[in-house]
Amino acid sequence: MTRPTWTRSATALLALSCWAGAPASAQDLAARLQSCVACHGMGGNSTLPNIPSLAAQPRVFIENQLVMIREGLREIPAMKGQLDGVSDAELSAMARHFAALPLKPAPAAKNDALFAQGQKVSEASRCGSCHLPSYVGREQMPRLAGQREDYLLHSMRQFQNNQATGRDTIMAASLYGIADADLRAMAHFLAHTTAP
Ligand code: HEC
Ligand code: HEC
Repeated sequence: MTRPTWTRSATALLALSCWAGAPASAQDLAARLQSCVACHGMGGNSTLPNIPSLAAQPRVFIENQLVMIREGLREIPAMKGQLDGVSDAELSAMARHFAALPLKPAPAAKNDALFAQGQKVSEASRCGSCHLPSYVGREQMPRLAGQREDYLLHSMRQFQNNQATGRDTIMAASLYGIADADLRAMAHFLAHTTAP
């Protein structure tokens, strides 16, 4: 016996509304994360210039940034549309996922003089007062230890040149007056800083 059409569509509608209201399943999350890997690397360890690693970043930092990116407040042309329609619950699940992954830094050869200069400037500028003395970050402050050197330099230059649209202005203030050579030294030092 065939069921009347209205029953079928009512059942479909009911199924759809249940699906829309349900929390993100592990399967949905895995599908979403597929697209991130193409740029942010396997396990959140980026191998591409100017693209940050996400592994071992503080959960709150990732969550905040994902909301800012989805809302278009932090403009990232490469990520345009990636987070359209992704719910807050899904963003939180993504943040938990990346925060729990181990960071596996693969920096270029270490230059001892540059490293020492970067360490001196970072300490004098009290970067560790927010990012922690081990530079692993906390809450809304990102981890800097072991991040890609090119991305660290790129983002510091963006902050300094007021090109970091939608990002916390505290960083432009923290980098005020620091010479570009010192930014390069800090990026080198932080990329080579090993921390838990
Ligand atoms: C086509 C490449 C691309 C894809 C795909 C992509 N991203 Fe990104 N993402 C970037 C780039 C580039 C930046 C850095 C932009 C900048 O500030 O210069 C970035 C930045 C971020 C940041 C901020 C990190 C930080 O340290 O400031 C987060 C969080 C992030 N992406 C999460 C994701 C997630 C989650 C996905 C998958 C849903 C994703 N991205 C997909 C290119 C991509
Ligand atoms: C008063 C607290 C504070 C101080 C001091 C501070 N930072 Fe930050 N920093 C932040 C916050 C908060 C963010 C996240 C900004 C955002 O995107 O909203 C950040 C972001 C960054 C980023 C971007 C990383 C990423 O993954 O996108 C870099 C690089 C950075 N800081 C380097 C430094 C350096 C180097 C110093 C010292 C010269 C420093 N910070 C001092 C609070 C601070």
